[in-house]
Amino acid sequence: MDNFSFYSPTYFEFGREAEKKTGELIRRFGGSKVLLHYGGGSIKKNGVYGKVIAALTSADIKFTELGGVVPNPRSSLVREGIDIARSEGVDLILAVGGGSVIDSAKAIAAGVKYDGDFIDFYRGKAKIEDALPVGTVLTIAAAGSEGSPNAVITDEETGKKKGARSDHIRPKFSVMNPEFTLTLPPYQTAAGATDIFIHVCERYFSNTPEVVITDRLCESVMKTIIYETPRVLRDPDNYGARANIMWAGMIAHNNICGVGREQDWGSHHMEHELSALYDVTHGAGLAVIVPAWMRYVMERHPEKFVPFATEVWGVPLDMINPIETAMIGIERFEGFLKQIGMPSKFSEIGARKEDIPKMVDKLFAGSETEGNYVKLSKEDVTKIYESVADV
Ligand code: NZQ
Ligand code: ZN
Repeated sequence: MDNFSFYSPTYFEFGREAEKKTGELIRRFGGSKVLLHYGGGSIKKNGVYGKVIAALTSADIKFTELGGVVPNPRSSLVREGIDIARSEGVDLILAVGGGSVIDSAKAIAAGVKYDGDFIDFYRGKAKIEDALPVGTVLTIAAAGSEGSPNAVITDEETGKKKGARSDHIRPKFSVMNPEFTLTLPPYQTAAGATDIFIHVCERYFSNTPEVVITDRLCESVMKTIIYETPRVLRDPDNYGARANIMWAGMIAHNNICGVGREQDWGSHHMEHELSALYDVTHGAGLAVIVPAWMRYVMERHPEKFVPFATEVWGVPLDMINPIETAMIGIERFEGFLKQIGMPSKFSEIGARKEDIPKMVDKLFAGSETEGNYVKLSKEDVTKIYESVADV
């Protein structure tokens, strides 16, 4: 196991009616006037907006609001949010929504405290040194941004989707009421579950030896997603299944499963090129990329695919031919993604084969290789994209 620092100070309020604590939590973390930030309107349709406003009002928290965050959130709205937060004297950013809203809120929080253009953080020109406090009310289990120090933004000037990372933007608190996820369309539920599963894969496929504790944690989160996702798709109102998936999403990405080990993240970077170019739902893009990545790297480096098959998918170990065992694990994963309605090919997400060179060039601007479990060259990534580019 490698040396590590682990700092994860988000306060979580989890369960039914958790949102009633929102006002109290804002006060506890120094807020008195918040920017209420949200997406395209789902919170107004499903009543979450009204519940949050009631909680703010009862705690006498003043607020100004900015909706309109789109999935794969855009730099222009972040700039608008920074202007509003400054002119209104906001002292905390409250994100009500999913990863896109939370990431936009984090970027606003950092941008308010920075003299230059916030996009510098995403172009490698500046580091986040300070930020307004961020609180979240989560409405979809997926990105794990409610407990992570990351924020991913689409830079509209360059067309690149990039992440920034800092403990300053890790949410001070996150309110997680699983009932708020009952109104998710099945596709978003499944894409979110896929993202959760793959946040763990990015950590599980590692070359670091002697990491039994995090291996077992990773396997447990993956098995939870395998068990609960079909249940919730059959019965969308199943509170227990929703609750388990929601907490799995947090555990998958606050890095408790990833400390002390080399991590991969090549598949996420390959996916971000897809969502930047075609506005693909992040989890659906991962469903196309990750099995292709697995098939490609398994041939060169099968070791970790054997426990992935036996421990996660229950495949019996073939001692004479462990590669066969590993392959069956990948096939089970592909079958699962199909069962929950995720795509597997470019044509299903509107991606085009002729754009592959462009995506590869953007991905490798400034880096020689991608990923760590197997370090991938431009040619490798091209082959992975091509293996799922059916048109
Ligand atoms: O915009 P609204 O109307 O709210 O609709 C949203 C959106 O269309 C809808 N939705 C959310 N909660 C709902 C709901 N619809 C009905 N009922 C509800 N309760 O779901 C759609 C997707 O929302 P979004 O916030 O985009 O989902 P997600 O949480 O998957 O976030 C995706 C973004 O997070 C980034 C991704 O790249 C992507 O931009 N990521 C952020 C990470 C981080 N900050 O740590 C890590 C991840 O790997 C990921 O890259
Ligand atoms: Zn992700």
